[in-house]
Amino acid sequence: MSLSVLVLGIETSCDETAASVVSRDANGHGEILSNVILSQFDDHAAFGGVVPEIAARAHVEALDSVVQAAMDEAGVGFADLDAIAATAGPGLIGGVIVGLTTAKALALASGKPLVAVNHLEGHALTARLTDGIAFPYLLLLVSGGHTQILLVRGVGQYERWGTTIDDALGEAFDKTAKLLGLPYPGGPAVERAAARGNLDRFALPRPMFGRPGADFSFSGLKTALRIEAEAIAPLSESDVDDLCAAFQRTVTLVVRDRIGHALDRFRSEFPDSADPTLVVAGGVAANKALRAGLDAELSARGFRLVAPPLVLCTDNGAMIAWAGAERLALGLLDDLAAPARPRWPLDQLAAPMLGSGHKGAKA
Ligand code: KG4
Ligand code: ZN
Repeated sequence: MSLSVLVLGIETSCDETAASVVSRDANGHGEILSNVILSQFDDHAAFGGVVPEIAARAHVEALDSVVQAAMDEAGVGFADLDAIAATAGPGLIGGVIVGLTTAKALALASGKPLVAVNHLEGHALTARLTDGIAFPYLLLLVSGGHTQILLVRGVGQYERWGTTIDDALGEAFDKTAKLLGLPYPGGPAVERAAARGNLDRFALPRPMFGRPGADFSFSGLKTALRIEAEAIAPLSESDVDDLCAAFQRTVTLVVRDRIGHALDRFRSEFPDSADPTLVVAGGVAANKALRAGLDAELSARGFRLVAPPLVLCTDNGAMIAWAGAERLALGLLDDLAAPARPRWPLDQLAAPMLGSGHKGAKA
């Protein structure tokens, strides 16, 4: 194998049409040569969420030029690439098919190998691109479609230590925002309102708090919040602020508790780990209160928090190109029959959870 590989990555599993060219040298150091992301935010905002059919059509319209822009920005041609990687799932199947089929066509036309990447593996490996961290480490993935705690042992080697049994955390933020009349996407709007609110006015239940293991549940919290809101309707602006403050504080406490259990387990399974690390990824990782809570929990237990820059925490093509490069380095290639998969757990052995946080459209 040559000293360094160059991979094009394509991401179309939700509402970002994204492409990127990334290099990886023989020592595992990565470099992002381009990272083009076209968000469909405006196409979906009026509907208060992602509409799958609109997303798929928008990917069809945008992908060719997004790929071309990524190649141009990187200053490379298809002949220079060592592989073409695309998200093959999990996600909205229409979008996944658009990206994967495009990657297959490009691979066939250029005679380059295809890597069919699991979107979650893209999130899981990003911290090796940005921070060069070594295996094993823990990953907290908190996005609109997923809430998982994963042990990352190596490329292709994941254990799911915790997951949501109902809503994803980002979905809970979005539903709370909708319920309180705040704009989409809900996370940033709830965070802004919470910053103005009174933390102590409402006491909400803390689902799963103190339970063994590291699973999550958020749908009961949403119901409790709705009942509180209905009891004092019509809501004033400060009512909304106080409800958001209570919601955000509660989810932060729950995440700290669940992560605490996972950290303890990591310590007992890897007592010799010199640099125990938790990586956070996903859009919810932007939440400052949640980050502060995580920071406190981690430093109390002697763990390091690694949070890749937000643009690489949310969906992007670089994470897919990088996962493709990591797989290529191990000879893990796919043929052109690789299927698009709406569901594709990283940990094949983990029992499927009821709902499992896939009700929302996002991954
Ligand atoms: O990772 P992401 O951009 O997209 C996927 O889900 O793949 O995550 C989007 C989610 C949305 O649910 C959004 O409300 C949430 O991340 N989010 C936040 C914040 N910013 C985005 N949640 C809480 N606080 C934020 N500041
Ligand atoms: Zn994602």
